[in-house]
Amino acid sequence: MSRITVPLGERSYDIAIEEGALDRAGALLAPWAKRGRFVIVTDAHVEPTQLPRLAAALAAAGIAIETIVLPAGESTKSWAMLEELTDRLLALEVERSDTVVALGGGVIGDLVGFAASILKRGCDFLQVPTTLLAQVDSSVGGKTAINSRAGKNLIGAFHQPVHVLIDPSTLDTLPMREVRAGYAEVVKYGLIDDADFFGWCETHAAALFAGDAEARRTAIGVSVSAKARIVGEDERETSGRRALLNLGHTFGHALEAETGFSDRLLHGEAVAAGMALAFRYSAAQGLCPAEDAARVSAHIAAAGLPNGLAAAGIDADGATLVAHMAHDKKMEGGKLPFLLARGIGQTFLAKDVSLSNVAAFLDAERGR
Ligand code: NAD
Ligand code: GLY
Repeated sequence: MSRITVPLGERSYDIAIEEGALDRAGALLAPWAKRGRFVIVTDAHVEPTQLPRLAAALAAAGIAIETIVLPAGESTKSWAMLEELTDRLLALEVERSDTVVALGGGVIGDLVGFAASILKRGCDFLQVPTTLLAQVDSSVGGKTAINSRAGKNLIGAFHQPVHVLIDPSTLDTLPMREVRAGYAEVVKYGLIDDADFFGWCETHAAALFAGDAEARRTAIGVSVSAKARIVGEDERETSGRRALLNLGHTFGHALEAETGFSDRLLHGEAVAAGMALAFRYSAAQGLCPAEDAARVSAHIAAAGLPNGLAAAGIDADGATLVAHMAHDKKMEGGKLPFLLARGIGQTFLAKDVSLSNVAAFLDAERGR
């Protein structure tokens, strides 16, 4: 089993990664079952395949469980579902000393984490992520949120989990499109500050998609180590360090908004296209070698992910896309910080990017 610590003083916690860990969850999670019981929250897609594994392992260790199964999908990150979940947690008499278990992807993790942050002024929660995106990104770092009419993830809190248990074998039941979308966040860590890892991605993506255990372990381990390090340095995204994790997200956000945050374009797919655009924009500004931008685009396409506007099914003009960006929660005093690159593994935060320049770039990209 590999263990990685998120170093946050008294709120530090471990991420444990092992194939088959779900089937040993009784022993692995017992320290957090304070009253010999867990309430497990999951969604309707995860319930049939992964909940029985977790339930059997906890039962074998004498840990009682209550389960709450919510509808699958982004619309579950809503005020209505937050109300339903908190009502049900209160009905189950969850106390501040209890630990609620989030079993699922980023939707369940974000919703359960936010519910835990406000339930009785805050109770503990534990992440058991079952999508690649959640295993390499959303389960670590304590960003929790629901969506509101005004936009995605606008209502939320920083609330760190007490533990993260990652079993890569849960990915065996994940649809391949979701695996590929989560892979965009894996590539992101290489592009931010680890060119060697980007090289590893180029040679091992196919093995990862085929379910190779060693490739999965490396991809998740390297990604989670990078995230734990960055979160430890800048938990609340105040120094600019954690903002690096948003590479591709500003361009991606515009594409997601243009598709109405629907299944037409998954979050990871938008991030993939957004990273390719960020590199091509950086190259167009003379900041980054054109060969690096081309290499990024080629790998994203080879991974079966969209690497530009047309590949993402977007036909909007630059002004429309930039208008979407201006509604991003990352706006600061009327300016939008952009993650740009000086090369692969050399991402930096640029605060003086001209939105009209970005719009012209996107017009040139249109139909490419
Ligand atoms: P998701 O939770 O909707 O999961 C994707 C789909 O896969 C869903 O239909 C789900 O039911 C299904 N699923 C999950 N695990 C499965 C399994 N093992 N087998 C079969 N089906 C399974 O989406 P996601 O991509 O995991 O997460 C996206 C969400 O994460 C977005 O809301 C995004 O805003 C959020 N996010 C949060 C952070 C953060 O730091 N908190 C970071 C990135 C993304
Ligand atoms: N996924 C971006 C972050 O956790 O900061």
